[in-house]
Formats: sequence, structure tokens, C-alpha cells
Amino acid sequence: MVLITGGAGFIGSNLIHYWTSTTTETVINVDNLTYAGNLQNLAELAGDPRYIFFRSDIGNIQAICQILRKYRPRAIVNLAAESHVDRSIHDPDAFIQTNVVGTLRLLKAVYSHWSALGASEQDEFRFLHVSTDEVYGSLEPGAPPFRETTAYAPNSPYAASKAASDHLVRSYHRTYGLPVLITNCCNNYGPYQFPEKLIPLIIHRALAGKPLPIYGDGGNVRDWLYVADHCAALQRVLERGRPGEVYNIGASSEKTNLEVVHRLCDILDEGKPRRDGKSYREQVAFVKDRPGHDRRYGIDATKIQRELGWKPQETFESGLRKTTRWYIDNQQWVADVTSSAYRDWIALHYGERAG
Ligand code: NAD
Ligand code: DAU
Repeated sequence: MVLITGGAGFIGSNLIHYWTSTTTETVINVDNLTYAGNLQNLAELAGDPRYIFFRSDIGNIQAICQILRKYRPRAIVNLAAESHVDRSIHDPDAFIQTNVVGTLRLLKAVYSHWSALGASEQDEFRFLHVSTDEVYGSLEPGAPPFRETTAYAPNSPYAASKAASDHLVRSYHRTYGLPVLITNCCNNYGPYQFPEKLIPLIIHRALAGKPLPIYGDGGNVRDWLYVADHCAALQRVLERGRPGEVYNIGASSEKTNLEVVHRLCDILDEGKPRRDGKSYREQVAFVKDRPGHDRRYGIDATKIQRELGWKPQETFESGLRKTTRWYIDNQQWVADVTSSAYRDWIALHYGERAG
């Protein structure tokens, strides 16, 4: 049995689907259902005895201890977090509360449980903390991509909160011997991603006939990985990763934001052409840049490839086509998540950027 936190979010729900379809294990999902958590993502699993859901904050030590005592999972995969950089710029507090304080409290609960286990259960136990390449800061053009040994230099409140959580997890290994693993992954995309992030935002706004906001000059570079490939990597790290180690995850698929948006427009032009026959590229609108906007991220995934034998299955093109198709086919899901709270966020954030 494994316990996944943040399982109602984008990567978490993909990971639960991945786990239940590739193993026979039971999965426990602990999620407090923020604006980003959506049980519709897991509707197919309702009533499945191999899936158990608890609505709880990761910082609720008592609740987490009770769940651990009752179910005795062999591993925990910690995905619960506030995850959107722009929201962290508007209001960092929730990021510190969940990503830093919440992770610390989760570690305390897990350590208290783990310390009471017998020697063989202790040896087999794993705490996998899912983190981001943003902790490494911004790369200059032409600089080598981030390695596990790259120094931390987080630039946004989100990145700083994730960096702090990584350090806490590391400290629980060095100080208390908890068998932890840390992964730092690049930008994910795929089904169930909340349409505040670039790719689903662009698909949603393109189909709605709205401007496609590109921050600054559109030349910022991100390294893109299809979410199912990230899930496979997490499973592999849990199976074969060495406690105390860090693994960078990425597909060496660096693109400028303008390249990503243009490619999305072209795929939509084929799959769901505009009624007026023009290209979705006409909707592109350059808007005010993100403060402190990191220019470039890139991952060197040599370690996980060589040591654990993981490699991605999707290319950027195949992943983007699957993703676009999923959003076209799941318009009701999009309509449900773009509720009044979503509209408030769009008005607050893009209202300020309107040119
Ligand atoms: P998301 O925002 O879609 O989902 C986060 C989930 O965590 C939601 O279901 C939310 O309800 C839950 N949650 C938030 N605060 C919680 C709390 N205090 N207690 C319990 N549950 C809580 O995020 P995502 O994009 O799926 O990212 C998941 C993890 O992966 C995060 O830790 C993020 O930093 C990391 N990550 C994301 C990406 C990416 O591109 N999305 C890349 C690398 C790493
Ligand atoms: O690198 C991993 C990180 O990727 C994760 O840790 C984060 O949780 C995840 O949100 C993501 O962060 P980014 O800031 O890179 O993702 P986002 O989708 O918000 O933005 C991607 C790029 O697109 C970034 O350079 C900003 C730009 N952008 C974004 C939005 C929302 C725009 O140009 N316009 C937009 O409207």
C-alpha cells in the first residue's frame, strides 16, 4: 500500500491512475481539496476497494498519524503543495504554510510512525518528496542544464518554499535516518492540469476565442515532460532509488513559450479549426512580464536514466497532441473547474496585465 498526498491535483490524480493501472496495490489519497484539488479527476475510482480517500491537511499531525497507524503504507509520495508561481507572487503565505510548515508537520508524523516500526519494515519504508527544477534558479543561454549537484538559487516565493521543503526532507534523512528520496522535475503537462498553467490556459482560452497571454517577449524557456512519464519516473525512483539521493527528472525538451503556444495553435487549427478559418495564432497577445521571471530551465536527467533505467516514452509533439485532444474531449471538466473562483483569479491576475 502507498499513500499519496495531493492526489486530487494534476500530477497526483495522474499518478493514482497510473498506480492503480500498473500495480495491484491499494492507494491512499490524502488531500485537503484546495482550489486545485478536484475529486472529479478520480471519479472512475469511486467505490474501488483499492482506492481510499481522506480529506486532510498534510499539516494535521494527528490525522496523518492515525492513517499511518491504521493502514501501515510501505511508502509515502508527497505531492501536496501550492504549485502556481503567479499565485505565490500575489500572496506567498499559503505557500509557506503548506509547502514548508505542512511538509515539516508531515515529516514529524511520518518519523514518529517510522520510528515505531520493526527493523525490516523500517528498511523497506520510503518517503518520496516530489519537487521542482525551479529550486535551481535560472539558466543562462547555452549553460549546461541543472544537475543534482547544482546549487539551489530559488527566485520566486513558490520556488523558495519548495527549496525549504527539500532541505527539511534532506535533514530528516541526515539527522534522523528517515529513508527519503527527493525528485526535482521540470514542467509537466497532460490531462487534468488546472487551466491556470500555460498549456491548459492557452487551450482553454483559444477555444473560448480569448487573447492568449504571453509574458514578456515569449523567449523564456521551459523543459517539458508529459505527466505519465513523470509518473513512471516516480514509480521507478520508489522501486530502485537509493535513500538520501536526489534524482532530476526531465525529457531534454526545452522550448520557448512562444514555440509552445504556436505549436498549440497549429494543433488546434487542425483538430478544432476556428469558424472564421483564421489561425488561433491571431489570438496571441504579449502582456506584462512576470516579476522575477526565470529565463530558462533545463534538466540533465543522466542520473535517473543511467542508475535507474528510466526514460520518457512521449515526445513533446506526441504529448502535446494527446493533451490537446484530452482538453477538446473534456470540455465539461474544463467548464466545471473554471468556476467563479477561477474567474476571480483571471480578473485579478490578467486584469493587471491588460494592455
Ligand atoms: P496541483 O496544484 O495541481 O495539486 C496540488 C494538490 O495538493 C491539490 O489537490 C491540493 O488540493 C493539494 N493540497 C494543497 N495543499 C494541501 C495541504 N495543505 N494538505 C493536503 N493537500 C493539499 O499541483 P501539481 O501541479 O499536481 O504539483 C504536484 C507537486 O509536484 C507539487 O509539489 C509541485 O511542486 C510538484 N511539481 C509540479 C510540477 C508541474 O509542472 N506541475 C513540476 C515539478 C514538480
Ligand atoms: O518547472 C516546474 C514548475 O513548472 C513547477 O514546479 C510548477 O508547479 C509549475 O506551475 C510550473 O511552473 P511555471 O511557472 O514554469 O509554469 P506556468 O505554466 O505558470 O508557466 C510556464 C511558462 O509560461 C512561464 O515561463 C510563464 C509563462 N506564462 C505562463 C502563464 C500562466 C505565460 O507566458 N503566460 C501565462 O499566462
